[in-house]
Amino acid sequence: MERTFLAIKPDGVQRGLVGEIIRRFETKGFTLVGLKLMNVSKELAEKHYDVHKERPFFPGLIQFITSGPVVAMVWEGDGVVASARKIIGATNPLSAEPGTIRGDFGVTVGRNLIHGSDAIETAQTEIKLWFKEEELASWQPTL
Ligand code: CMP
Repeated sequence: MERTFLAIKPDGVQRGLVGEIIRRFETKGFTLVGLKLMNVSKELAEKHYDVHKERPFFPGLIQFITSGPVVAMVWEGDGVVASARKIIGATNPLSAEPGTIRGDFGVTVGRNLIHGSDAIETAQTEIKLWFKEEELASWQPTL
């Protein structure tokens, strides 16, 4: 079954949006298989954002993501990678459609509330980076 990695960033946690954000994926019908509130080490942040390491915003991005707790999650379901990206909205919240998480709650690209894997392969890499196998619960809704 397809899985994606999502992380509610320090701004989402500090603004009290954890419940609202989780609700959007639950009510859509995806299955939560991993969830933890955690402080992110510089090492983990740099590995996660390695693809952006040459970008001018990289130092600020690392500083921000390590500045306070993050809610790391794994969600499962058919088409969950692309669907979660739609639910999240465009990277720049000013371009994100109303109805998306970033469109409804954000205004700044560096404070865009949540990260979502951009492809199935990336999701697999990110899940391995952030979670141990035993931290994930494999289950299927029966109702
Ligand atoms: P995310 O989906 O976590 O992936 C990379 C992040 O880099 C992105 O969300 C933004 O938060 C951040 N980012 C992208 N562009 C900029 C920018 N121009 N300035 C600051 N941060 C940026």
